[in-house]
Amino acid sequence: MKKYTNIKDIGNLKETIKEAILLKANPFQFSDLGKNKTLVMLFFNSSLRTRLSTEKAAKNLGMDVVILNVNDAWNLEFEDGTVMNANTSEHIKEAAQVISQYADVIAVRAFPGLLDKQKDESEFVINSFIKYATVPIVNMESATAHPLQALTDAITISELTKKVKPKVVLSWAPHPKALPQAVANSFVGMMQNMDVNLIITHPEGYELRQEITKNTPINYNQEDALKDADFIYVKNWSSYSDYGKILSQDKNWMMTKAKLGQAKFMHCLPVRRNVVVEDAVLDGDNSVVIKQANNRTFAAQIVLKQILEDL
Ligand code: CP
Repeated sequence: MKKYTNIKDIGNLKETIKEAILLKANPFQFSDLGKNKTLVMLFFNSSLRTRLSTEKAAKNLGMDVVILNVNDAWNLEFEDGTVMNANTSEHIKEAAQVISQYADVIAVRAFPGLLDKQKDESEFVINSFIKYATVPIVNMESATAHPLQALTDAITISELTKKVKPKVVLSWAPHPKALPQAVANSFVGMMQNMDVNLIITHPEGYELRQEITKNTPINYNQEDALKDADFIYVKNWSSYSDYGKILSQDKNWMMTKAKLGQAKFMHCLPVRRNVVVEDAVLDGDNSVVIKQANNRTFAAQIVLKQILEDL
């Protein structure tokens, strides 16, 4: 693997999931592969799971890890040809090349501003690193994609399903803050590549980008969509058409134990209790969110392993 910035960078998904599950059983099997190799992790935004699980994954492979909260460094300029006489002190052209000299792999987290759709969709942060860095880039959640989370979700469903073709529902939930579409985008794309029946349910106005949803059924009636679900993945995202806006705070969309039924409850975390999902679901036997978070390590580890093998 030359980079992992999008789920499309996975060559053979079935094989990758199988290998990740094997790594989980034997995490130190390839502990020499990353010897004398360094992962530099750059965070433009907060993280708990991505930061810790990716560091753990790299260390399981024998890599050294260096972490920089980018807000502690110089303000980066991403525009070409700018007269840098305002707030930015260092251009990405120098920064990416400099960081590449300290790293064998660079991982980047950079959320969207949710104010300018075109700017966010240009993925200027992650794409600038791809353009100017001289080492492979891993996306730890960008403006429009969270491919490590999506691979985690694929691993989790593969491990837990009792059916050849389970029904998977992506169900929108209310949230007091405007959140990106990244997790939902990558989850939908990943499920389209798996042997599952995927349905998306959300209030009108929360349609994801059509290039993402393609022919996946969308049902505005949550109760209808959830019928006979095997896995219910709950996530908030802000409107794509009315870009970055909160159009609904309807509490009726919160996931409850009654709605969940026998399905497994999934969420990428962090999650707001009794806003997105009620306590009884998170504290109940059908919640798999902790197992899901554990799988973040093995999703990151299989990605780093495949990158290291190609260096
Ligand atoms: N799911 C996820 O990416 O968690 P963090 O934001 O804590 O990394």
